[in-house]
Amino acid sequence: MSNPQIKPQRICCIGAGYVGGPTMAVIAQKCPDIRVTVVDIDEQRIAAWNSDELPVYERGLDAVLETTRGKNLFFSTDVDAGIVAADIIFISVNTPTKTYGEGAGKAADLKFVELCARKIALISTGNKIIVEKSTIPVRTAEMIKRIMRENCSENVVQVLSNPEFLAEGSAIQDLHYPDRILIGGEETESGRQAVDTLASVYESWVPSEKIIKTNLWSSELSKLAANAFLAQRISSINALSALCEVTQANIDEVAQAIGRDRRIGPKFLKASVGFGGSCFQKDVLNLVYLCEHFGLPEVAAYWEQVIKMNDYQKRRFTKNLVKTLFNTVSGKKIAILGFAFKSGTNDTRETPAIQVCSDLLEEQGLVSVYDPGVKREQIESELNLVNANSNNLVAEDDPYSACAGSHAVVILTEWQEFKNLDYQRIFSLMEKPAFFFDGRNLLDFDAMRRIGFQIRGIGRV
Ligand code: UDX
Ligand code: ADP
Repeated sequence: MSNPQIKPQRICCIGAGYVGGPTMAVIAQKCPDIRVTVVDIDEQRIAAWNSDELPVYERGLDAVLETTRGKNLFFSTDVDAGIVAADIIFISVNTPTKTYGEGAGKAADLKFVELCARKIALISTGNKIIVEKSTIPVRTAEMIKRIMRENCSENVVQVLSNPEFLAEGSAIQDLHYPDRILIGGEETESGRQAVDTLASVYESWVPSEKIIKTNLWSSELSKLAANAFLAQRISSINALSALCEVTQANIDEVAQAIGRDRRIGPKFLKASVGFGGSCFQKDVLNLVYLCEHFGLPEVAAYWEQVIKMNDYQKRRFTKNLVKTLFNTVSGKKIAILGFAFKSGTNDTRETPAIQVCSDLLEEQGLVSVYDPGVKREQIESELNLVNANSNNLVAEDDPYSACAGSHAVVILTEWQEFKNLDYQRIFSLMEKPAFFFDGRNLLDFDAMRRIGFQIRGIGRV
C-alpha cells in the first residue's frame, strides 16, 4: 500500500476457525470492495467452507456466505499466495493451553502464532499490517515484531491487536452490532496510521464512536481481562448460589436484583488506591462470616479474597512510593491531598488514606494531610487511633502549606478541586526531584511532567 490511509484492497486471514471464518465473512459482506481470503493448512476445513456443509454453525452465517463467497470472499489452502497478496493479514489461529513444559495447564501455547509470524516474515513483500485476532497473552506483539524485524529488514510491517469479543452462538449478531471494536497499535505516526487503516474497514458498518483505539498492550490485555471479568461474575453468582441453597434465598431473584444496578457495566470501573467507606468492607466480611457459618468455607474464602486484594492494593501503593523515594521516607515530608474515602463527603470510615498514612508514619515519614471536606481535628484523631499520638503528623487547612517542603505529593481522594490547584506553585515549593503519586488517576500526567513532576498513577505510566 503506498498510502496507508487508503482503505485496504486485500485482506488475508490465517486460520479458518470459529473466529476467523465468521469475522471475515462479515467483513466481506460489509466491505464489497475488499477481497477477503481465508487460508488454512487444514484441507478438510477449507473444503467444508467451500461446500454447503459449513464447518462452523452460527445462525445467519449461511446467509452472509450466500452473498459473499466466490465474489469477494474466498477460502483456500494456499497460505503463501494469501499472504503475498494482502495489505492486511489477520492471524486467527488457535492458541490452546500449553500441555507440556513450563506453564503447562495455564499458559497459552503460541507456537501456531509464531509459525504464522515466521511464515509472513519469510515470504511477504512490501508494506503489511499484521493483526492479532487470536486471544494471546499481553506483549505477544513484541514477539511478532521481533521476528519481522530480524527476518525481513526491507519490509515495513505494523503489528496491531484487534481482539474478537464475539460469543459463539450469537457470532453474526455480535459482528453486525458489536458493543465496541478494540484496536491497539504502536504509539508512533505509522502505528496510528495503521490503526486508522484498520478502523476504516470497520467504519463501513460500525459507528466510529464504538471504535476504541489504544496502545498495543492495553488492547492485548483487555481481551484476557474482559473474559476474566465475565468468568469472575459467573463464579460470583455461582458462589452465592451455594449460600442461597442453605438460606432459602432464590439465586434467580438475587441475580435479578444485582443485575439492575446500573453501575455493573461501564461505571464503577475506575482503578484506585483501594475502596473504602462504611459498607464494602463490613458487608463483604459479613458475607464471609455467613458462608463460614453455613459450612461453605470455599465460598467464604472466595469473598475474603476481595478484602485481601483491597488490602494489597493499599499497601502496594505505599511500597511503590517508598521504593521510588530511594527506599526511604524517614525524615521526609510527604503531603497527602485527600483523606475522605471518596470525594463529596467528609466520611473517613475505612478510607484507604488511613492505611497509607499509617504505613508512611511507620516508615518515619513526616505526613502532612489536607482535605477540603474533612476537618483537621478529625484527620488527626483518626490517625492517632492507629499511630498513637504521632508527632510526625499534621493536618493543614491549606493545600499549599501541606505541600511546602515536601519530597512527594500524594492524591488519595478524587476531589475535583485538586485538578485546579496551582501545580507550578506547588512544584516550586517542593524538594527536588518533585515526586507525585496520583492514587486516583485524576490529573493530566503530561501537563504535570511538563512542569517537572515525576508522576506515577495507578496501573499506568
Ligand atoms: C456503597 C455502595 O455503592 C452503595 O450502593 C451501598 O448502599 C453503600 O456502599 P458508598 O460507600 O457511599 O456506597 O461509596 P461508593 O461510591 O460505592 O464507593 C466505595 C469505594 O469504592 C470508595 O472508596 C470509592 O472511592 C471506591 N471506588 C468506587 C473506586 O475505587 N472505583 C470506582 O470505580 C468506584
Ligand atoms: P478459533 O476458535 O480461535 O477460531 P480454531 O481452532 O477454530 O480457533 O481455528 C484455528 C484454525 O487455525 C484451525 O483451522 C487451524 O488449522 C488453523 N491454523 C493453525 N495454525 C495455522 C498455520 N500456521 N497456518 C494456517 N492455518 C493455521
